Amino acid sequence: MIALDHVTYAYPDAAVTVLTDLSLHVPRGTLCGVVGASGAGKSTLAKVLSGFVPHAEGGELAGSVQVGGIDVPQTPLAEAIEKVGLVTQNPFNQISGAKFTVREEIAFGLENLGIERAEMIMRIEAVGELLRISHLMDRSPYALSGGQMQLVAIASMLVMRPAVLVMDEPTSQLDPGGTRMVFDVVSELTRDGTTVVLLEHKLEQLRDHADQVVVLAGGRVALQGEPREVLSDERLTQWGTGSTRYTQAARSARDRGLDVPGPTPVSFDDALLTFGRGA
Ligand SMILES: Nc1ncnc2c1ncn2[C@@H]1O[C@H](COP(=O)(O)OP(=O)(O)OP(=O)(O)O)[C@@H](O)[C@H]1O
Ligand SMILES: [Mg+2]
Repeated sequence: MIALDHVTYAYPDAAVTVLTDLSLHVPRGTLCGVVGASGAGKSTLAKVLSGFVPHAEGGELAGSVQVGGIDVPQTPLAEAIEKVGLVTQNPFNQISGAKFTVREEIAFGLENLGIERAEMIMRIEAVGELLRISHLMDRSPYALSGGQMQLVAIASMLVMRPAVLVMDEPTSQLDPGGTRMVFDVVSELTRDGTTVVLLEHKLEQLRDHADQVVVLAGGRVALQGEPREVLSDERLTQWGTGSTRYTQAARSARDRGLDVPGPTPVSFDDALLTFGRGA
């Protein structure tokens, strides 16, 4: 569903190459988490996957970008959007500025797809209920809190039902309850065959929900694999993505000579199994 091969990219007039010989393959229906230090190129990767790079931002892109059955750099952005939805890192930037209510804002992309009115209404209602924003539908998109705006930005993409959804830190403004809800919704989508790339700092959530995790470092994929294995890898610190408090606790215990059996825990549930054993 996603096949990036030997992708190299530099922004216009930039001295540094952000992505260097990056290859990434993700099968259909996968929830693929991407982690990486600040500045590692997560947002750039999101823009490459969805066509905003190079179509909207220019720059020098080399290599092959195949997503959702299209060759992204060869496909006009308006067409690519039907296959690949991008939830941007800053939800404020995603608001069209052309609409007066949240309902119209969510309908915006659908209008461009030429979806008929009854179907539009049904989809907007459904996504509103799914993300618990039905009560916001008549408000101005600009009269929302950061978290609410983020949910509206997610809704505007979900409602278009793209085959591939790229979400750039979509829960950065949400509280733990909202974060859990978004992860649950996204997991459900992948069960129905949507492929999701989630660029995210919340390692515990990725451990619990992602099918695979990719580490972006040095402009390329440094590691890709099963979430627990990747997220407890010792090199994560060196790659600047940090590790969860459970991983740190297990490491400290081992450093002090305590016996911590089994694989290193990443999430609370892992830690219960690891530390609960001797109790
Ligand atoms: N429009 C741009 N023009 C030039 N350089 C850019 C542009 N956008 C990002 N960069 C640079 O590209 C590199 C990667 O940035 P990117 O935003 O992709 O990182 P990121 O992993 O998403 O970081 P964060 O976790 O802070 O969101 C950084 O060095 C950044 O300064
Ligand atoms: Mg970013």
